[in-house]
Amino acid sequence: MLGGLTAFSYFCKKNTMAHLVSPSLLAADFTKLGQEVEMINSSAAEWLHLDIMDGVFVPNISFGLPVLESIRPILKKKMDVHLMIVNPERYIEAFKKAGADILTVHYETCPHLHRTIQEIKAHQMLAGVSLNPHTPITLLEEIIAEVDMVLLMSVNPGFGGQRFINSTLAKVEKLKELILCKNSNALIQIDGGVDETNASALYKAGADCLVAGSAVFRAADPILAINNLKNA
Ligand code: DX5
Ligand code: ZN
Repeated sequence: MLGGLTAFSYFCKKNTMAHLVSPSLLAADFTKLGQEVEMINSSAAEWLHLDIMDGVFVPNISFGLPVLESIRPILKKKMDVHLMIVNPERYIEAFKKAGADILTVHYETCPHLHRTIQEIKAHQMLAGVSLNPHTPITLLEEIIAEVDMVLLMSVNPGFGGQRFINSTLAKVEKLKELILCKNSNALIQIDGGVDETNASALYKAGADCLVAGSAVFRAADPILAINNLKNA
């Protein structure tokens, strides 16, 4: 055992890490949406993170399908859609039609998570499941082999610009161990309060993809901020 990990998982952990960056549009200047999308197009980011909030599951309302439909023709990156809405299964087809490539639902909103994951995959999208900060990793034991990505919330969902919850780091390590133990191919994505001060520790703990809103769109040089997150 190496610090709680088996030798196998330690070895795999060192060899399977991706450094994907998914800037969150929530922090963009919506009066210049086209320019913000062009900035993403010319950056090293692989994905664009789109936060859909319904004012029910989370205490905020963001944007919806018409915004995705209007940016899809000009966006050259993958659309990484984070559904913070109740009954997300009702909208799988609509988000596919709007251009989503990755569709993530919250564990807390899905009584039939297995079915919802299968439906997302049947619509040729990558299927993600997200956990709120208080939701334990162990609840994923029976579904981890089915999902393409796990999104760990490192703030309570609903707003950009919040402070990173430090206990997320230990949660990433636990999740990585579960993924290896169950032979899952799931990517680990972290969302909320991510910036240059915690990016390196998150990748070291096992994260594959970092979501960053304020740290990218509020930076003096967003392209550089994306590069710094990728190379952390
Ligand atoms: C919060 C959203 C996040 C948010 C991240 O509910 O899911 O994606 O936009 O914003 P920052 O990086 O500013 O914390
Ligand atoms: Zn998000």
